[in-house]
Amino acid sequence: MSASETTSIPGTRAQAPASPPSRLRHILSLDDFERAAERYLPKPVFAYVSGGVEDNVSREGNRAQFERWRFVPRILRGVGKRSQKTVLLGKEYDHPFGIAPIGIAALYAYRGDLVLARAAKASGIPMAMSGSSLIRMEDVAAEAPDAWFQAYVTGEGKTIREVVGRAADAGFGTLVLTVDVPASGNRENNVRAGFSTPLRPSPSLAWQGISHPGWLFGTFLKTIARHGMPHFENNYGRRGAPILSSSVLRDFSDRGNLDWRHLELIRGIWKGRLVVKGVLHPDDARRAIEHGADAIGVSNHGGRQLDHVVSPLAVLPDIVAACGEVPVIFDSGIRRGTDVLKALALGARFVMLGRPFGYAASIGGEEGVRHAIRILATEVDRDMAMLGLRDLSEISGDFLRPA
Ligand SMILES: Cc1cc2nc3c(=O)[nH]c(=O)nc-3n(C[C@H](O)[C@H](O)[C@H](O)COP(=O)(O)O)c2cc1C
Repeated sequence: MSASETTSIPGTRAQAPASPPSRLRHILSLDDFERAAERYLPKPVFAYVSGGVEDNVSREGNRAQFERWRFVPRILRGVGKRSQKTVLLGKEYDHPFGIAPIGIAALYAYRGDLVLARAAKASGIPMAMSGSSLIRMEDVAAEAPDAWFQAYVTGEGKTIREVVGRAADAGFGTLVLTVDVPASGNRENNVRAGFSTPLRPSPSLAWQGISHPGWLFGTFLKTIARHGMPHFENNYGRRGAPILSSSVLRDFSDRGNLDWRHLELIRGIWKGRLVVKGVLHPDDARRAIEHGADAIGVSNHGGRQLDHVVSPLAVLPDIVAACGEVPVIFDSGIRRGTDVLKALALGARFVMLGRPFGYAASIGGEEGVRHAIRILATEVDRDMAMLGLRDLSEISGDFLRPA
């Protein structure tokens, strides 16, 4: 691409295409990706990505919580030059946001985890690869050595050593330990839509495939033709269940047995940076730090675990206060540049997004994810100007008032 075809987002290293490919031009906001993905994906698959649990109170509450704050801009601060660069865990990123771990990405996007990792790398942001994924972690680490790996571990020393050892051998430098899944969420919406892991072949599933030919040929059959039937590759040291099967059961056992001794064990064997994700109480944040966590992930899993759980934004300031110098990474419900800046104003060092990047990968592959990153980066940049911010280190709670 020639220089004339590119434009730089202020404060970024990477040059982004001046305009997205024509098929993405109608996508102006992150929510537009969701509407497009709903058309593109079979119902059961869209239900998996979009859904929360039970009555979706937690999922909706995450968005509603952002409504509780309004900005107080500052004026005449000479904001012609702005930078979003943010240092997290010893690395400088171009933007204060990254891609949260999202499971089975290769089911809703062709080579999903790789696409997300490539787009993140090209845009100077972090991407955490989910442990519930259908592409081998080694393949992602080989292409994107700066990607993070997120593990779901069982409360069993042997399997912990296997998966953590495998992530280290693959070359990952940052491990995210997700701790808010002691039991599977009650995803009634998935059951109603016909989603399960593995997917069970049925006439209605076949019809969903046929009536969504873009996904059927562009994602699912293309994957099978080129790479064989996808399997869960990274929950353990060994390969797990296939994504489509009439009889195989997935092993979710023993996650409920996980306790602080396992975190101690992991800290002992994992030499890289360690993020504990799914913290909602300041005492747990303190304890995770005492156990050697390098960052705390304040998250309710996008409202996909416990319904009626508190919104992470509501507890963010208390957790930030408990963490001292240890950075807090916020996720759950971010959709706009203003959301990013609210979370940062309330003390988060960094934020992550799940669903929007999943939808972007579905409908647009790597270009789609890059477009999503560019949309959010441009919003953050414009909002910074209007708030009177040259640099994100200048943001504080003083820029917010309760609505
Ligand atoms: C489709 C999907 C799959 C997810 N899979 C995982 C996962 O494998 N591991 C994990 O720690 N979190 C997982 N999450 C939670 C995300 O990491 C993140 O906490 C959440 O998506 C943030 O909320 P948002 O979607 O509103 O941005 C998943 C979320 C979604 C939407």
